[in-house]
Amino acid sequence: MSSDAGREATVRRAIAAATAAREHAYAPYSCFRVGAAVVTSSGEVFAGANVENASYGLTACAERVAIWTATVAGSSEFRFVVVVTDTPQPVPPCGACRQVLSELAPQARMIMATLGGPYQETTVQALLPGAFGAGDLMPGAAPRPLRNL
Ligand code: THU
Repeated sequence: MSSDAGREATVRRAIAAATAAREHAYAPYSCFRVGAAVVTSSGEVFAGANVENASYGLTACAERVAIWTATVAGSSEFRFVVVVTDTPQPVPPCGACRQVLSELAPQARMIMATLGGPYQETTVQALLPGAFGAGDLMPGAAPRPLRNL
């Protein structure tokens, strides 16, 4: 398989995982179901869906559920973040998700797909230029992985 075909297969696998997770979205208030998935540098896929709350502001978007799930499974390097919606056009991540993704998956490609349709691609960095980050809390101090503490 050429590397292009391998990449496409990986993206399609992640879109399939996000689409499956979307079926388990908990979205009784907006009825807007979103699926997401992240692909690690070793090819593992972790999926998520949006989980709403009667206290609306506590809603977690699909992208954050997916990246948090991968993070607590021990993953820290991500190739792709995928979001899937049933909309005419692909949907980009909200501002809160951009901030979280810029912290946890700064090098990732961002794939925005509709159900069964073509997808659009950009980068996490392009979605949040000039992001606030760890270096802004303690200028000069980069975040360190826990294992180096
Ligand atoms: N939502 C996501 O899960 N991801 C997005 O990229 C956009 C919005 C969710 C949040 C809420 O449950 C519903 O979609 C409507 O905003």
